[in-house]
Formats: sequence, structure tokens, C-alpha cells
Amino acid sequence: MKKILVTGGAGFIGSNLAKHFVKNAEVLVIDIFRSTETFANGNLKSFGHFKNLLGFSGEIYCGDICDKETIKKICDFDPDVIFHEAAISDTTVAEQNELLQVNLNSFDELLKISRELQAKLIYASSGAVYGSAPAPQKVDNGESPRNIYGFSKLMMDYKARQFDRKNHTKTIGLRYFNVYGGGEYFKNTTASMVLGFGLQILSGKAPRLFHGSNEIFRDFVYIKDVIAANEAAMQAEDVGGVFNVGTGKARSFQDIADILQGLLGTDYGNDYIPNPFAGQYQFFTQADIASTVEELEYKPQWSLEDGIADYLPEIKAIAEGK
Ligand SMILES: NC(=O)c1ccc[n+]([C@@H]2O[C@H](COP(=O)([O-])OP(=O)(O)OC[C@H]3O[C@@H](n4cnc5c(N)ncnc54)[C@H](O)[C@@H]3O)[C@@H](O)[C@H]2O)c1
Repeated sequence: MKKILVTGGAGFIGSNLAKHFVKNAEVLVIDIFRSTETFANGNLKSFGHFKNLLGFSGEIYCGDICDKETIKKICDFDPDVIFHEAAISDTTVAEQNELLQVNLNSFDELLKISRELQAKLIYASSGAVYGSAPAPQKVDNGESPRNIYGFSKLMMDYKARQFDRKNHTKTIGLRYFNVYGGGEYFKNTTASMVLGFGLQILSGKAPRLFHGSNEIFRDFVYIKDVIAANEAAMQAEDVGGVFNVGTGKARSFQDIADILQGLLGTDYGNDYIPNPFAGQYQFFTQADIASTVEELEYKPQWSLEDGIADYLPEIKAIAEGK
């Protein structure tokens, strides 16, 4: 049986990975879990929640990825594959020092031990590295992050590349675009628009969209495609590098609201509000996935319409307080 480590395994993507892989592997989840501590923006410092791991039958270790003890725990476990999802995932955090310590500094040690343990390292990068680079965004083509979060992920990509060059290793970085789907509820206000709008509509209100939402485009990728991309990365032999994970299609915020109202049979109109993040916001993202398709054999299966329809029962359950 393969041994798989998932860092950030109590979070949205990590918990989905952990529950997926535990069916056929020995899985260790590492996560700092949530406390009541918040950043200056009012959001929690970490979003990990035990409820994301209900039904998970592997091992859980509560620890900080920056701590030596946590690293020792990983070494003792001796994984074959590491999915590194732990991070401050909030794109609106202003504390540059803390964010870089968690997202970037901790990565040194993970790279080092993955080589020592001969474990395959697959880590979460982000479409946020591109900032306002022209769409479709392509790896090594005009990356210019607009916030410290995107910067931390770009620096992880550079670090991994340098490390691989020096050590003849093959690390895989996956630049997820905008992920939505089951398990994101505990990201609170940083969860996707799909959940946010869905809950607003289900409470009988018009969805609250930023002004100009028919002109804000993102590549929204369903969690099941993200799991498939990680699976593909694990299977890929002798491949290293950085790859985009999206659908290759740009859809507007307005599309999401309209799809939801169509599926729910409502006609509440829209409640437009100013965009408070305009200066650090991405207005058009669309992943160029050619290299991901070719080298990882990843093929996105979920259109925005199908992904939202598949996710809707969970959104309804959340709205009903289940
Ligand atoms: N969800 C998206 O749309 C998206 C897009 C691009 C990239 N990503 C990246 O994917 C990864 C997973 O994102 P997510 O959406 O599941 O976010 P998330 O916040 O739900 O998951 C991150 C997890 O890391 C944990 N964590 C934070 N600091 C830690 C520390 N110091 N030590 C150990 N654990 C710590 C948190 O408790 C949380 O459970 C992150 O690296 C994120 O940056 C996500």
C-alpha cells in the first residue's frame, strides 16, 4: 500500500484529497486546524476544520508545517507521495511576514525531506501568480502577482525549480485557478462565489455581485477536476515542473449567479455592490492547460454548469443547516 501525506488536509482541497486517496492508500493528514486567531482583515488565520474530515479513516496529526516536530512526524511516516496543500490561502491577507513564513519558508524543509525520503512532492501553487498577465495565462509568461499570496506561490515555483535543477529531482507544482465544490464551506467568506451566491439565493435574496460582474472572468474549476489533476500528477512518470489546473475556459461572476438561479428556478435579479478589492483583483483569468493535458494527461471533465449542478445538493444541505 502506498503511503500518502496530505498537508493542509483539514482544509477544502486537502480534505478532498485525503478522503479520495484513503480508499487505496495509507494516508497521514497534517494540519494546524483552526483557532480563534484572526488576521487584520478579520479572517481566521487557518481554516482547517475537523468536520471536513468526518468519514476519513486515516491518521491525523495537528501541527504547524513550520515546526520541527511536524517535520519529524513526516519523516517517521516516510511517505511515498506528498500532496502539499497547507498554506495561508486567503488572497486578501496583508501580513506579508507571516504569510511568507508559512507559505514559502516551510517549503525549504519539505523539498529537502522529499528528496531524502525519495517521496514524490506535488504542491499547490495558484493562478494568483499571474495577476493581470494576459489571458490565456501560460507558465513563464508574464507572471506578476497582485498580492502577497500570489507572490508567495510564484516564489514557491521558483524555489522548486531551482531545487530540482540542483538535485536532479522532479517536483510538480499545480497552479489551481478558482476552485469550487464540496468542502469549501469552512473557508468562510473566502469560499467561492458559487457557494456565496448559492446561499444568498437559497435564503430568498438576490445574489450580491460586484459591479461589472459580467466583465469579471475567471477560470472556475470543479474540485473533482482538481482531484483528478493531482491523481494524474501522481501517476505521471519522470515529469516535473509547474502546470496550470483549470478548465481552459473563462466564465463571468454573472454566469455563476445566472446558472444558480436557472437551476433553482428563481428570478430574484441581482444586488450589485462596489468591489472593495479592485486594486489587487484579477479581472480575467483563463488557464492555458496545453502542457497539463500533454504532460500530465489531465483532462477537465466538468463544465461550470455541470459542476454547479453536481455541487448544489451540498449547498442546499448547508442552507438547511444540515
Ligand atoms: N481553493 C482555491 O481556489 C485555490 C486556488 C489556488 C491555489 N490554492 C491553494 O491550494 C491549497 C489548498 O487550498 P484550500 O482552498 O483548500 O484552502 P484551505 O485554507 O481550506 O486549506 C489550507 C489548509 O492549510 C492549513 N494550514 C494553514 N497554515 C498551516 C500551517 N502553518 N501548518 C499546517 N497547516 C496549515 C489550514 O488550516 C487549512 O486547513 C493552498 O495551498 C492554496 O493556496 C487554492
